[in-house]
Amino acid sequence: MTASYPALRLRRTRASAWSRALHRETVLTPADLIWPLFVTEGENVEEPVGSLPGVSRWSLDGIAARAREAVALGIPCLALFPNTPPGLRSEDGGEALNPDNLMCRAIKSIRDAVGGEIGVLTDVALDPYTSHGQDGLVDDAGYVVNDDTVAVLVDQALNQAAAGADIVAPSDMMDGRVRAIRMALEMAGHPNVQIMSYAAKYASAFYGPFRDAVGSRGLLKGDKKTYQMDPGNAEEALREVALDLAEGADSVMVKPGLPYLDIVAKVKQRFAVPVFAYQVSGEYAMIEAAAAAGAGERDALVLETLLAFKRAGCSGVLTYHAAHAARLLNA
Ligand code: PBG
Repeated sequence: MTASYPALRLRRTRASAWSRALHRETVLTPADLIWPLFVTEGENVEEPVGSLPGVSRWSLDGIAARAREAVALGIPCLALFPNTPPGLRSEDGGEALNPDNLMCRAIKSIRDAVGGEIGVLTDVALDPYTSHGQDGLVDDAGYVVNDDTVAVLVDQALNQAAAGADIVAPSDMMDGRVRAIRMALEMAGHPNVQIMSYAAKYASAFYGPFRDAVGSRGLLKGDKKTYQMDPGNAEEALREVALDLAEGADSVMVKPGLPYLDIVAKVKQRFAVPVFAYQVSGEYAMIEAAAAAGAGERDALVLETLLAFKRAGCSGVLTYHAAHAARLLNA
């Protein structure tokens, strides 16, 4: 039952700012943001990432400073990605299991800086540690083998949990890894460490700048299409999500973000669970390039795209614009 024109004028509630605020269905707050940070060795090091203007790799002191900044801005969670020194990358990515690796030290430096005031999310996958840039172990034919990789990912997740990670986020797309990681966390006395699974992660052209940032772009031969999803598939994404939930994921992620908002909406409608999206590096770069080219106003582009994730059903968004967006929202 609805009125019709002129009793019904949808423009009536849009006529003033106060009314638009009153009728807004979806809002974005700093608490919706997860800030991905790139970590590098050294002291007082800030290395700008060329293909991600405005984003840098930070040494541990810089990571601690970003953690303090995030707390002050009301950002609830940081996501960490290491740029492993080339000499420590190997065929089997063994550095991922080193309790004193860059990732583990970064977790501790955040704890020292801000205690438990912020969540730390760690990526579970081998690509920042392998000499071939793949997310798992490869056989002689270059195929990324599933079950042996899962065994290593379990140890990687335990290593991160022991160092103090709050959320482990497997981004590798191996089959069965969520269950294996969940069981291992329970057995190892980490019942409250969450799993946010990259459940629907697509083999995307939008990851290029990220691979620059973690130093895997030049190493990677070929692509990741035998494990990451085909961009044409939506039903398969729902199957991936169903499996990860059944295996014990606390929340699920869709990645990339904006080009896959249909997937976010479908997942939210079907499962009614916490859904996150990763506005990935190529999306960030696209917004920055558009703004630099004068095609749009940067702040407005940033806030509109992030709000779109909320509208589609996301509980939160991983975005390199997190600090900037939080500043805008707090102003
Ligand atoms: C790797 C990983 C990737 C991203 C997050 N974790 C890249 C890839 O799968 O090659 C991409 C994030 C981004 O582009 O911002 N496991």
